[in-house]
Formats: sequence, structure tokens, C-alpha cells
Amino acid sequence: MREELQKIKTEFLSQLQRLKNLAELEELEIRFFGRKAGTLTTLIKGLKDFSAGERQLLGQLVNDVKNALEQAFFEKRERLQQAQWAEALLREAVDVTQPALPLQSGGHLHPNTIIQKNLEDFFTSLGFMIFDGPELESDYYNFSSLNIPEEHPARDSQDTFYLKGHPGWLMRTHTSAGDVRAKQKYGAPLRVISTGKCFRNEATDVRHEHTFYQFQGVVVDEGISFAHLKGLLEAVVRHLYGPEAKLRLRPKYYPFVEPGVNGEVTCFLCQGKGCRVCKQTGWLEIFGAGLIHPHLLREGNIDTSKYQGFAFGLGLTRLVMLKYGIDDIRLLESGDFRFLEQF
Ligand code: DAH
Repeated sequence: MREELQKIKTEFLSQLQRLKNLAELEELEIRFFGRKAGTLTTLIKGLKDFSAGERQLLGQLVNDVKNALEQAFFEKRERLQQAQWAEALLREAVDVTQPALPLQSGGHLHPNTIIQKNLEDFFTSLGFMIFDGPELESDYYNFSSLNIPEEHPARDSQDTFYLKGHPGWLMRTHTSAGDVRAKQKYGAPLRVISTGKCFRNEATDVRHEHTFYQFQGVVVDEGISFAHLKGLLEAVVRHLYGPEAKLRLRPKYYPFVEPGVNGEVTCFLCQGKGCRVCKQTGWLEIFGAGLIHPHLLREGNIDTSKYQGFAFGLGLTRLVMLKYGIDDIRLLESGDFRFLEQF
């Protein structure tokens, strides 16, 4: 028994020394200390076959060996565990001396926002303030206050989204909806611009979308004439398209202005010669405008005997499409990265 014990000890220690990882250590543990068939366990179980006196002596010896082996086993386990942690740490290590990589956010302004900010800069430099009207609007501000009473045919061309259960509330069809709001809030004299989303119930195609953007301007002051309107819009056109661009105004009916005009610029693609973009006319329509109808001034509590004004509504979405050569309006609201990443 003594010899056997010695053999187990040498074998255990030499194997313990050779093994290289925790899995091998576990195998060794089972082989020697395993409760059912471990070599040392089996030997201990055999003690019962010895006489009481011998059992005591041998028992002591076995115990000493067992303790020594366990001690060696735990030390080895500790070392292997530490080695494993060190290795893991090394794998996860952060090199704090490495220079920072460039940020790859990929974010940038939407083309609508680029043109909007450009125009806002231009107008605020002329003393205009920016006014924000709500997108969810009342029938009054979107239509009635603008001289478009119920049953007026002008409503037909501006069908929109109405709120179920909330009669009289709708998604604004144009930024003109802020005109009377601004007059009521700030009175005269007044110089405001207002940009934002507008909505219409459209059968969508390359030129029609349920959501689009307009850029509105309103000026109210003493002695305002059509010449002021024309002068300002000519400056806008030169700002957007360069000194050679020309502006053409042609009469057009809008209930909220009198007289009303539709504004066109020289086609930037063919310089007025006529092409596919301008449908061979040499001109591109970019806004509606006119002298403010007295009905709106009265709704805005402005003294019509003292003040006059003009208003204009630029098709911001149209400006964006013309500027970037976008041939399908639906791309603008699509959220499609293949489109957006081009700006
Ligand atoms: N609100 C008009 C539209 O959506 C555009 C417009 C025309 C605005 C004439 C104006 C204006 O201020 O005077 O078609």
C-alpha cells in the first residue's frame, strides 16, 4: 500500500507539472480524486480491509499524501487561472496611445434644409424675422382667413388631410396659412418669412407628393407697392441663380392677393433657349405672389387705410429639385440612403 501510495504521488505530481490548461487539470482531478473511480479514492476505500492498528498508521500517511497533492493541485489551478486571465486581458487590451480614428457619422443636412437655410440667411440679412406656423392648422387660418370661404372653388385644388373627430382641423396645404397668424401676433409694420412642410391629398407621381415644402414671405408697411415686390423677388432670383437670371411675372389668380402673379425664372439648364426641363418655354415657375388682399389685413387687425403689403410663396421643394436635378419628388421624403448620401 505504501508503494502504491508513493506511485500515485509521483504520477500525480509529474502529470500535474506537465499539464497546460484548466481543462487538462480537471481531467487529472477526476482521474485521481474522482468520487467513483479516482485512483486515490479507490486506495482510500481499500483502507477498510486493513487491521485497526495498520489502518490508523496508513490512514495518517494517506491523509498526508492527499493533503500534499491537494495543495499542489490548488496552487497549479491558481497559476493556470491567472495565466488565463492575463491572456484574456491582453486580447481585450486598449492601446491608449493609438491616435483617434476620424468620426464616421455620415450625417449631413437634407437638401431641403440646405436651401431653406440658404434662403433664411438671405432674408434675415434683409431684416426679415422667421415665423413658425403649425403644420396641423385650423380651417380658418388655412382657408377662411385667406379669403377662401367654404364652398370656394379654390379649395378644390388644395384637398388635404382632415382630422377624424375634429372638424375644422387639417394639415396645412400651404405656408400662407401663417400669414394672418403673423399679422395678428406682430401687427404692422411686418417682415416675416415662414418655411415648412405642407400637405395635400395627391395621387402621387414624379411631380406630386403628399408632403412638400414652401417658403413664404410677407411684408406689410406704409407705401408698399408692386415695385417693392418685384425688386425683392428679383434679388432672390439673382441670389439663387446668379446675376444673369431674369424674372418674369405673369398675372395669376390667388384669392389672398390682388393683383396676383406667378413668378418664373430663366431656365438654368438652357439659359432660356428652351429644353426638356422647362418644357421648351425657357422659363421655370418658382413662386406665386401679389399684393395682400385687404380681407387678410382686416383679419390681421391691420389698419387698411394706413398699411399695404405683399406676399409670396416660393415652392421650396421645386427649388431643391431644380438646384440638384432631382427628377422624382418622392425621393425627397423617402428616407432612402442611396439618395440622401449624394448631398
Ligand atoms: N399659397 C400658394 C400656393 O400654395 C402660393 C402663393 C401664391 C403664396 C401667392 C402667396 C401668394 O403668398 O401671394 O399655391
